[in-house]
Amino acid sequence: MPVVAVIGAQWGDEGKGKVVDMLAQQARMVVRFSGGDNAGHSVVNPHGEFKLHLIPSGIFNAGVACIISNGVVINPAVLIGEIDSLNERGVDTGHLFISDRAHLIMPYHLLLDGLEEEARGGRAIGTTRKGVGPAFTDKTARLGIRAGDLLDEKAFRERLGAVLEYKNIILTKVYNAKPLSLEEVFSQYRQYGERLAPHIRETTIMVDGALGRGELVILEGAQGALLDPDFGTYPYTTSSSPLAAGACLGAGLGPTRLDRALGVYKAYCTRVGGGPMPTELNDATGELIRERAGEYGTTTGRARRCGWFDAVAARFSSRINGLTGAVVTRLDILDILPSLKVCVGYELDGKAIDFPSSITALARCKPVYEELPGWLTDTTGVRDFNKLPAEARGYVNRLEELIGCPVNLVCVGPERGAVIEKTPIF
Ligand code: GDP
Ligand code: IMO
Ligand code: MG
Repeated sequence: MPVVAVIGAQWGDEGKGKVVDMLAQQARMVVRFSGGDNAGHSVVNPHGEFKLHLIPSGIFNAGVACIISNGVVINPAVLIGEIDSLNERGVDTGHLFISDRAHLIMPYHLLLDGLEEEARGGRAIGTTRKGVGPAFTDKTARLGIRAGDLLDEKAFRERLGAVLEYKNIILTKVYNAKPLSLEEVFSQYRQYGERLAPHIRETTIMVDGALGRGELVILEGAQGALLDPDFGTYPYTTSSSPLAAGACLGAGLGPTRLDRALGVYKAYCTRVGGGPMPTELNDATGELIRERAGEYGTTTGRARRCGWFDAVAARFSSRINGLTGAVVTRLDILDILPSLKVCVGYELDGKAIDFPSSITALARCKPVYEELPGWLTDTTGVRDFNKLPAEARGYVNRLEELIGCPVNLVCVGPERGAVIEKTPIF
């Protein structure tokens, strides 16, 4: 059985949680490989409705090992809260494992995420303020503290002491904020360490073991390709790679082991936070989509910006991920629209251009639209592609053509079973 990476192919919130929950039923392992609790993955299945921020969406299956891998940054308080809340609702987390190489979000990361955003003023990125960016900054700066450090109290205290001395200088001298107490942070994180210790281990051996046994392994993406720090709308991006290449690095497996890269696309576009979005609809249609779909952030509750499907961005995303297939989610949201637009090109100063690297250029791009007929029919009960209204099939087929890879699945509702297979993934 293969390794499948489930990748956000737009600006996040495409429905990755739903897709992973669905595929996890056939899998033996699900690995979260990037981001932190800036992610919010909604899952609706026979156990109930859940919003997961760190725990892989395969957790509902007792026989599936769920790994929070080296590429994730972990806020231990959030993780413990998530474990407790799942346990209270009867979901076992004994099969949750945490890589000893995963970096931790520390109290100063949370403070700095807010202070840095305030300092940016009108140019704020619109981060989730979960401390994710500052934690990845420290990883690169070699100032990070990792999950494995919690297992060695003496070494942890020494390391924390050295890092906190430096962080307190930044907090007090740059931001005029109060310093943090070493004793308080140490004793709090020691408690987290005691609680999480049974889950922390070397995880690449587990992944390798699953591959050796030929088991299906799902790599669960967070965020989306257009938020990638290299290829997204920099600097309005996140801080770790949500791409298929990032999946290999963040899960600790070589690129030769990846069999499928499945891109998850919403049937339209959304974005939360700052940065350009060429097809954004600041009108009644955008408002209609937002309200009908409940497009409010799973993590922050912020209103998501809504717009037409952007096929220029979609094709770019497919290219940089090497997608082998796509999932189109939330088709049912469009059931009530009499006609739909799809952006098939960008024009900048009268010339056609591809997805540009510069946000000032992207902000000036004029979308070129193609108009397609709507279907004005409820699709939520459809489970066979050929039973979708002809206009809905036409819409999906056109997206497939424009994205440039086969559409494997089409989703028509938030529940696990609300899915139509168009082309088999395997
Ligand atoms: P993620 O971050 O990619 O996991 O996506 P989110 O969970 O943040 O946002 C996706 C939203 O769409 C959630 O509320 C899902 O329950 C919902 N959803 C996923 N697929 C469908 C679908 O096909 N139809 C509808 N109506 N909702 C869906
Ligand atoms: P999931 O996994 C949507 C966005 C933030 C902000 C930018 C940087 O649920 O799809 P950060 O806190 O990462 O420094 O914020 O990235 N962002 C997301 N948008 N879905 C997400 O995750 C996101 N994670 C971060 O809104 O614009
Ligand atoms: Mg989300």
